[in-house]
Amino acid sequence: MRIINGKVILSGEHSVVYGKVALAASINLGVVAKVVGDGNSVDKNEIVIRAIEVAGGDSKLGVEIESEIPVGAGLGSSAAVASAVILSVREYLGSPIKSKKELFNLVMECEKVAHGKPSGIDAAVVVYGGLIAFTKGRPIEKLAIGKPLELLLVDTGKPVETTKEMVELVAKARNREDLIDQIGKLSLRVKNELVLGNDIDELLDNNGCLLEELGVVGERANELSNELRKLGASVKVTGAGGVKEGSGMLLVRHNDLNVVRKYLDRRKMSHYSTKIGGR
Ligand code: PMV
Repeated sequence: MRIINGKVILSGEHSVVYGKVALAASINLGVVAKVVGDGNSVDKNEIVIRAIEVAGGDSKLGVEIESEIPVGAGLGSSAAVASAVILSVREYLGSPIKSKKELFNLVMECEKVAHGKPSGIDAAVVVYGGLIAFTKGRPIEKLAIGKPLELLLVDTGKPVETTKEMVELVAKARNREDLIDQIGKLSLRVKNELVLGNDIDELLDNNGCLLEELGVVGERANELSNELRKLGASVKVTGAGGVKEGSGMLLVRHNDLNVVRKYLDRRKMSHYSTKIGGR
């Protein structure tokens, strides 16, 4: 059984839909899937059903899934589940997946269930792993990070909107072209700095503010971001975001992440620690 890891978008969500580069990385939260024969006793959601189908499995097939990735939080849960199910079904059928390209194409089919017209960044990072630079329609670039990056993921609550709805919201946003352009330029800088092993905290925070301006961050997440900024943190929502209720996960950087952890523990807010690159 292979563990398939979730992901964070370090820079460039939403602007990636408009052809700009985005940076994404695997995180240490994963999912495993196992075919258990008869599916009648197994609860299967839309993604799992589609994944069994695209892998060429019988719809009656049962698949057990164990996941550490919070669902609907912008951490790539649906792409990771799809990938794990496809791999296990093809293994079970005796025709294992042979290439990452093949897996990527099948995961993309599943992503359309929740995303409508996904850019492909989630599928790309889940399938290829590590740190990637992704531009729609171009080959996926695997990058070697210059220096490991420790991050805190802070849960602002599950968005009620789907990724597709958030992408549609951005399409109607005021000043969209200019904001997308700025995020695209920032992402290029993030790419260069990551490879060089330089600090990206300021760029991350700038990207966070631009996403707020773009209108994908709700009030609850906005308020929390500003509180964390007062502690000296750099903050950015990761993934599609959400406005009516939660906005998913915030990526938080600080030169002493314990300051942020203590603050969140006092407020009984859940958070995860993750490291990009290194062990
Ligand atoms: O579904 P999420 O939260 O991982 O967001 C995907 C990133 C978007 O740029 C918002 C959409 C896309 O298709 O790239």
